[in-house]
Amino acid sequence: MPNVKIPVTIAQLQKWKQQKKTIAALTAADYAIAKLLDKAGVDLILVGDSLAMVALGHKNTLPVTLDDMIYHAQAVGRGVENALLIVDLPFLSYQVSPEDAMRSAGRIFKETDARGIKLEGGYPEMVVTIRKLVQAGMPVMGHVGLTPQSVHRIGYRVQGATPDAAAEILDQAKALVEAGIFALLLENIPAELAAKITALIPIPTIGIGAGKECDGQILVTHDVLGLSDYAPPFARQYADLQNVITEAVQHYCQDIRDKS
Ligand code: KIV
Repeated sequence: MPNVKIPVTIAQLQKWKQQKKTIAALTAADYAIAKLLDKAGVDLILVGDSLAMVALGHKNTLPVTLDDMIYHAQAVGRGVENALLIVDLPFLSYQVSPEDAMRSAGRIFKETDARGIKLEGGYPEMVVTIRKLVQAGMPVMGHVGLTPQSVHRIGYRVQGATPDAAAEILDQAKALVEAGIFALLLENIPAELAAKITALIPIPTIGIGAGKECDGQILVTHDVLGLSDYAPPFARQYADLQNVITEAVQHYCQDIRDKS
C-alpha cells in the first residue's frame, strides 16, 4: 500500500498537545524552500511577515503589505502538501478596525491555501477583533510577548521579564484562548513564563526564544539555514548556506572565466 501522508490539521495540533508530541514549525517565503520544508517533515509552515526582512531586505516587518503576503503565501502554498499552512496578517492590515481585519483575513483565505492566520497582540481591542474573525469561521493563531510589529514601542527586548509584565502576558494568553484562538505563539519571553502558560491553557503554544517547555517550536528558516544578515541569539543555526552559496557561485564564475 502506498505511504499516503495525511495533511496536518488544526485538530491534530490539539491532539498532539494532549499526547505531548512537540510541534516542529518553520517559516517559508517561497515555493522552493516550502517544498523542502514540507518534504523534510515540518508540521506547520508559517508565511511570516519576517519575510519583509529575510526575503525582501527591509529593516523590520512594518513595510510588508497584504498584497506582498498574499503573493508569497501563494508561492509557498504551491510547495506545501502536508504541513499546516498559516499566514501572518501584516502591520496595519488588521489593527484599525475589526472590519479591516475581516477583509484582510478574508483575502488571505480566498486567495491562498492558508488554513489559518496569525496576528499580533493580546490587548482588549485585539481580543475583540480575534473573536469576530473566529466567529466568521477563520482559524486564528495568537502571538504575544515580543510582537515585532510594535518594534518602535517595545524594541526587540525580552518581554514579560518583570512580575507585572509576566502577569499581563498571562492575562492576554487567557483572553485570547477565550476568544477562540487555536494556538498561541510565544516570542522572546522567559522560559518559566512560557512553561506556565503552556501548562495553563488548553491549546498548543509555539515558542520562539521562549524555552523548551512550549508545545512546539518555530524559527525563521533563513536564520536556521544561515541565510540571514542578523539572527537573534536564541536561533540555533543548522547550516551555513551563505558560505555554501558563495563558494558555489564563485566556482561557477571561475568555470565561466576559464571557459571550462
Ligand atoms: O514573522 C515571523 O517569522 C514570525 C516569527 C515569530 C516566527 O512571526
